[in-house]
Amino acid sequence: MSRSVAIIDGSGFEPVNDPGVRHETPYGMPSAAIRTVRKGSSEVLWLPRHGDLHTLPPHGINYRANIYALKAAGANAIIAFNTVGVISDRIRPGQIGLPHQLIDYTWGREHTYADGSAETVDHIEFDPPFAPGFRSDLLAAARAHDIECIDGGVYAATQGPRLETAAEIDRLERDGADVVGMTGMPEASLAAELGLEYVLLALAVNPAAGRSDGSIHEEVARFSRTARDKAEALVEHFFGASA
Ligand code: HPA
Repeated sequence: MSRSVAIIDGSGFEPVNDPGVRHETPYGMPSAAIRTVRKGSSEVLWLPRHGDLHTLPPHGINYRANIYALKAAGANAIIAFNTVGVISDRIRPGQIGLPHQLIDYTWGREHTYADGSAETVDHIEFDPPFAPGFRSDLLAAARAHDIECIDGGVYAATQGPRLETAAEIDRLERDGADVVGMTGMPEASLAAELGLEYVLLALAVNPAAGRSDGSIHEEVARFSRTARDKAEALVEHFFGASA
C-alpha cells in the first residue's frame, strides 16, 4: 500500500496559513485544524500537536483525537517532529536523528483506544515501536541528499512539562536512553493501535539537564534553528523523491 503521510509538528513549528479542517472525533477535538502543506512535490497533512498558539502542554494534548483525526483525514503514516534533549554522545545538539527504540516514563495520559468497550482486548505488539521500513526510507533520503541524520537511538518519553533533574537524566542514561522528550508517548503507541506507520524525527535542541553549564533555554535558543533546518530539508527531499 502506498504511504499517505501526515506530519505532526512539535515545539518551534512554523504556522501554516490555511484554515484547514477541524475534525471532531469520538475522543474529542484534536490540537488544531488539520492543514495541507506542500513538502517537496507532495501535499502532506500537517497538525501542530501543541495547538496553533502552542498552548497545550505535553500532558494536556489529546493524543487520541490527534491520531484518530489524522487517520480519518486519510493518513496511514506519520512523521512526528519531536524536540529532544541529548543524554548520550550518540547524537549532538543541532543534529537530527531517527530513534529505533523508546522507553515510556509518562503517566496519567489517555494512552489507549482499548477503553473496555470492545468485546475483547487487543494486546497490540509494540516492538519495534518506530516503523522500520519508513525509518529506512527516510534514512536513505537523508543519505542521498547529504543530510546528516543519526540512525537509531533510544528515546525516553518523560511527563513534563518541567524539565528533568540531573539525577533523573543520569537514571535515564543508566536505563539506556540517548535522548529525552515529552511527547513521543502515547502518540507512537496510539498510532500503532490504529495501524499507522509512525516514525519519530528527533530534533536535538539542548544537552539534557546537568549535561552542560549553560541554561537549557539558552541552549535551546542556540540549537533549535540548526536542527529544524535539517528536519525541514529531510522532509523536503523525502517528499521530492517519493512523489
Ligand atoms: N527534556 C525533555 N524534553 C525535551 C528536552 C529535554 O531536555 N529538550 C527538548 N524537549
